[in-house]
Parts: sequence; C-alpha cells; structure tokens
Amino acid sequence: ATKPVTITITGAGGQIGYALLFRIAAGDLLGPDTRVRLRLLEIPQGLKAAEGAALELQDGAFALLDAVDVTDDPGRAFDGANHALLVGARPRTAGMERADLLSANGGIFGPQGRAINDHAAEDIRVVVVGNPANTNALIAKEHAPDVPAERFSALTRLDHNRALGQLAAALDAPVGDIRNVAVWGNHSATQFPDVSHATVAGIPVPNLLTTRLEGADEALQWLAETFIPRVANRGAEIIEVKGSSSVASAASATIDHVHDLVLGTGDRGWTSAGVVSHGEYGVPEGLVFSFPVTSAGDGADWAIAEGIELDGFARSRIDASVAELVGERDAVRALGLVG
Ligand code: NAI
Repeated sequence: ATKPVTITITGAGGQIGYALLFRIAAGDLLGPDTRVRLRLLEIPQGLKAAEGAALELQDGAFALLDAVDVTDDPGRAFDGANHALLVGARPRTAGMERADLLSANGGIFGPQGRAINDHAAEDIRVVVVGNPANTNALIAKEHAPDVPAERFSALTRLDHNRALGQLAAALDAPVGDIRNVAVWGNHSATQFPDVSHATVAGIPVPNLLTTRLEGADEALQWLAETFIPRVANRGAEIIEVKGSSSVASAASATIDHVHDLVLGTGDRGWTSAGVVSHGEYGVPEGLVFSFPVTSAGDGADWAIAEGIELDGFARSRIDASVAELVGERDAVRALGLVG
C-alpha cells in the first residue's frame, strides 16, 4: 500500500470544514486508492466542534481514513502536510473597515504561512478558502519564502462552478458538455465570469446564446446584465434565500479544486483558480488572481491557459478586478503584512 497523504484543514470545526471532512474521508479528494490522514486545526473556541467531527469520522468507519488529529497548534497541524486547505478565517462583521479585516486575517494567514514554510512536506500544496481568499493566499505565500509561490492558490472554483450551473440552465445543456468557462480576478463581486471562449459539445457558447436570445446584442446584454451579476453575487443570493452562507457548494468546489490539481484536468478543458501572476494577461506580477487554468496531474502545478484573446469588454472587467486586488495588496503592504 502507498503512504497515506496528510491533509491539514484549518477551521475544521466550522461549517465548510464539517462538509469537507466526510467527503475527503470517503475518497472524493484524492481518489479511491489513496489513504488520508487528517489534521484539523482550530482556535481554542473551535476545538470542541472539531473534536466532535473527529468522533463522527471514526463512526464513519472510512476504509481510506488512516488517522485524525485535532490541534490548535499550527506547527503540529502542518507538520508533514502534503495538502493544506486553509478554510478558517476572520469574517467581516458589521461596520468593519477593510483595513481591520485584512489586519485580522493577516494575523491568521501570516503565522499559518510561516508554519507551512517550516513544517510542511516538500510537495505541499495550499488552497485558501477563507475570505478574502486571494489576499489571504498572498499573505500566506509571502510568509513561506522557502515554498515555491506556485504551490499557493485561492479558491475560485465555486465561482467557476456557479458559472457552469447558470450556463447549463440558460442553454438547457448538461454541465458535463461545457468546456472552457473562465473566472478572472478576485473572489468578489468584481470577478469576471467569462464564457466568450466556452463551448457546449464543441459549439461556441456565444453562437448558442445568439440563437437562443435571437440576436448577438441580446446575447451580450444577457451576459453583462444577467449572467455576470448573477454569478458574481451568488453568495449574497444564497444568504438571502437560505439565511446563511454557501457551505456544501463551497466544500464541493474545494474538493474539485484539489482533485483536479492532483489528478489532472484531462480533456475537460479549463477550470479556474486564483494563482500567483507572473504578469500573464497584464495582471501585475505577484498578485493572486483567478485565471483559466489546467493541471497535467502527476505532481504538476496549475498552468495558466495561454494565448487567450481578450476583447475590450473582457479587458475592462479584468482591469477592474486587478484594481481591487492591487488595492487589497497595497493595504496589506501598508500594514506590513507583505513585502
Ligand atoms: P465558520 O465560521 O463556520 O467556520 C470557520 C472556522 O474557522 C471556525 O470554526 C473558527 O473557529 C475557525 N478559525 C478561525 N480562525 C482560525 C485560525 N486562526 N485557525 C484555525 N481555525 C480558525 O465559516 P465557514 O462557513 O466554514 O466559512 C469559512 C470561510 O470560507 C469564511 O472565510 C468564508 O467567507 C469562506 N468562504 C469562501 C468561499 C470561496 O469560494 N472562496 C465560499 C464560501 C465561504
């Protein structure tokens, strides 16, 4: 049997943590042949919830689950970790300023980045789920100078999956037939869900929309006024309808993200992930920005899709999200959280 893979989940006593743990134990993250050891990191107030989840994991009698440890010590939690799912974060509370939010999260993601740097396994991969996810990933990455920057990502797969869901509904098409949707930018309302290169069973989505909505202008209008805002504001819609934030869909997207990174995107085209820019598509170097990406599997990092043509509309949407992320980066710089 192969060596078990160590997965550290922060905020494991929270809602997303609870939805994640059982799917990971069931083999949804790394496939049916890989045994897993779970490390649940919580703050002292969250330990009991995580311990309760650990008891339930035992009661699940998962054949692939090798061990579960619960701790409030980041050094222990990340010791030998192959994957880190950084879910726990400081939520924005009513009346909280952006600088206060970023500072509180700097106090979480700085030390966790440092602990990853010092204790994680050589092949560590990190995905940041806790918001503001892109900038929290930037902070963690900056505190882990010995870990290649490409190992850090921010979750925008939920936005990507939301775009797939909306497109499938609008075109009456199976989700599995859709290829090359892209989400660009920040995991926030400035994100740009882009279907201009997408296809359904090989047919360009813009053509399908033009036929269905009886005109190319109508299609563009639907994208700008209905599709993009619906996807970008879906989190708020969920809160309004169900009275609490997205949980199972966020956990599912986190599973998809790590699964596709490790096992590869195969012939399924692009997915989306927040990754460190090297200047691609005019996005300033060093920003954690969502791009269309693929993974070759086999231990590869996310690869940003190349050679995509951006029209004026796409350019302006991407620039708006760049501006927001530059603002967040400058704010965490001013706080001394990143260099
Ligand atoms: P939650 O409040 O139910 O759970 C968060 C848990 O994190 C709590 O148990 C808390 O004790 C723990 N925690 C806080 N600070 C910690 C630290 N320093 N170390 C370890 N654990 C810590 O929240 P929920 O619903 O599970 O959401 C978690 C995060 O995910 C939030 O920041 C939320 O905004 C974000 N989110 C991100 C999405 C994305 O697409 N990127 C989608 C949905 C949620």
